[in-house]
Amino acid sequence: MRVLPTLALGALLLPLSVLASEPNSYAQPDQVVVTHLDLDLKIDFPHRQLDGVATLKLDWKNPQAPALVLDTRDLKIASIDAVDAKGRTRALKYTLAPADKELGSKLTIEAPKHPVQVRITYATSPDASGLQWLPPAQTADKRAPFMFSQSESIHARSWVPLQDSPAIRFTYDAHVSAPKDIRVVMSALNDARHPLDGDFRFDQPHPIPSYLLAIAAGDIAVKETGPRSAVYAEPSVVEAAAREFADTEKMIETAEHLYGPYRWGRYDLLVLPPSFPYGGMENPDMTFATPTIIVGDKSLVSVISHELAHSWSGNLVTAASWRDIWLNEGFTTYVQGRITEALYGKTLADEEALLSARALEKSIGRMPANAQKLAPDPRGVGADDALSDVAYDKGSWFLRTLEQKFGREHFDTYLKSYFDHFAWHSITTEQMLAYLKPNLIEKYPGRMSWDEVQDWVHGTGIPKNAPLPDSPRFDAIDKERSAFLAGSLPAAKLDAKDWNTQEWMYFLDRLPDVPKLGQMQQLDATWHLTGTPNAEIGMRWYVHAIAAGDKAVWPAAAEHMTRIGRLYLTVPVYKAFARTPQGLAYAEAVYAKARSGYHPLTRQAVEAVFAAAHAPKK
Ligand code: BES
Ligand code: ZN
Repeated sequence: MRVLPTLALGALLLPLSVLASEPNSYAQPDQVVVTHLDLDLKIDFPHRQLDGVATLKLDWKNPQAPALVLDTRDLKIASIDAVDAKGRTRALKYTLAPADKELGSKLTIEAPKHPVQVRITYATSPDASGLQWLPPAQTADKRAPFMFSQSESIHARSWVPLQDSPAIRFTYDAHVSAPKDIRVVMSALNDARHPLDGDFRFDQPHPIPSYLLAIAAGDIAVKETGPRSAVYAEPSVVEAAAREFADTEKMIETAEHLYGPYRWGRYDLLVLPPSFPYGGMENPDMTFATPTIIVGDKSLVSVISHELAHSWSGNLVTAASWRDIWLNEGFTTYVQGRITEALYGKTLADEEALLSARALEKSIGRMPANAQKLAPDPRGVGADDALSDVAYDKGSWFLRTLEQKFGREHFDTYLKSYFDHFAWHSITTEQMLAYLKPNLIEKYPGRMSWDEVQDWVHGTGIPKNAPLPDSPRFDAIDKERSAFLAGSLPAAKLDAKDWNTQEWMYFLDRLPDVPKLGQMQQLDATWHLTGTPNAEIGMRWYVHAIAAGDKAVWPAAAEHMTRIGRLYLTVPVYKAFARTPQGLAYAEAVYAKARSGYHPLTRQAVEAVFAAAHAPKK
């Protein structure tokens, strides 16, 4: 189960010869594209806003284009000017359309004379969907306020007016001013020794899509973890984080060995407050990560392998449209597995692959047919089914299948050449397939038919005979679980003393949707799952204990939900509560207290759970 924002996909892709059009953006890349962004921002904590000037360098494609159309959401525009080659400015007329709920407000700037640059003076809203502002009390060290962005999928537009489509890439530089003693970081090269003088400059020399624009600011300390990596976190968190992520350099070297040089310079990590809505976000040069993966035993660092892997699959070769997102997430989940295998062994990599495959088997049948496809038909994709487990779990399963059929050596060579071939480009599924056919499928005939490939990419469900790794340890857990559920093995006799995190996740994942109360109580009496410091285990435990009607876990579940804003760990617990009227009332009371600490995306997701629970049953 993965909780990701959903997107409405409305239109068909344009022919591949022109830049792919993205139905979730108003941008018209066939008319004009932004090639460089120059940001000048002031971080205003008391007003929870960024005050800024965004200067966009333009490449006009159509000589007749009358206007530059940008994406915005809840921005206050003060003025817009054309800037000529000599730096002279002239005011431009513009219209800001009423906001669309999904897409925000289309900004149309009249520019028939095709200026080389356009300069927009603006401010963000305190409720910007892509920013979270935390007062000192909501940080770990409680000394200073904190703010951070989360732009993927379509939230960059809530803090910068731009062409918010993954098909369009631009370089950027930025000047950011902040209160003294605050450190500012961005998705660009960061200097650990930068003085905290309130005056920061950044440069991202590589062309990136808008969803990789990122900024954060707060009481942030730094600790080196390798020659080109460091951990950034609040002072009280930074030591534990550096220990947990001590393998970062080894991860980079592993990925480089497989797929060629790391091209971004540094790979730093920023650990955010627990309200960060995701596990990790692959912002270039500076992955943003949840503190919930700091558990003391490195058992959840595959999130870091994953975000690092995006430095090839996603940031270097980018899905041109949200409909193609499996090119980012499926490829990355595959590469993540390869890093895990090289660093922590095949047993663990196979366990993680099985966890992902079994979760998909459980969820895919409940999805609408189109959502079961790796590359869904953009026509008729509902607002709720564009991004899901399919992109991650079916996508990575497809690549593991290719690896198995063609052999690791051939597949590794192929994947490396794919990253080289499409480096710094945004591509569609069709472009990926057009490269796959001659360079792998037809190069080694007889191993996999084109029909099989089509079935993986365009079919529903999971192709027959999709290969799964063996895991004797998971097999043993399946047996133990069955015996426990059948009543023939008491919880105290489970051979769980040495189960690792993934093995507990697997045991809990495959409990019945509504387990027996007595069995859940027994489990907790021996294994003390309530209050576990490992939130991956905790989430699964609370969901099943609540479903079983075990009210004794409610306060600990409430503590988990209040402390953690990561969607994937919190929303399922709300859903478990929402299944009974009394549980729903309790969850609503928890939310009333937790809400002010939640990210806008978490608020939206929890409120959607409540709305669904209150809606008359069909
Ligand atoms: N890029 C994603 C996060 C994302 C996807 C944000 C879509 C918004 C829209 C990131 O790389 C990711 O997949 N994070 C996972 C990590 C996990 C799969 C190891 C997460 O946050 O749980
Ligand atoms: Zn990812």
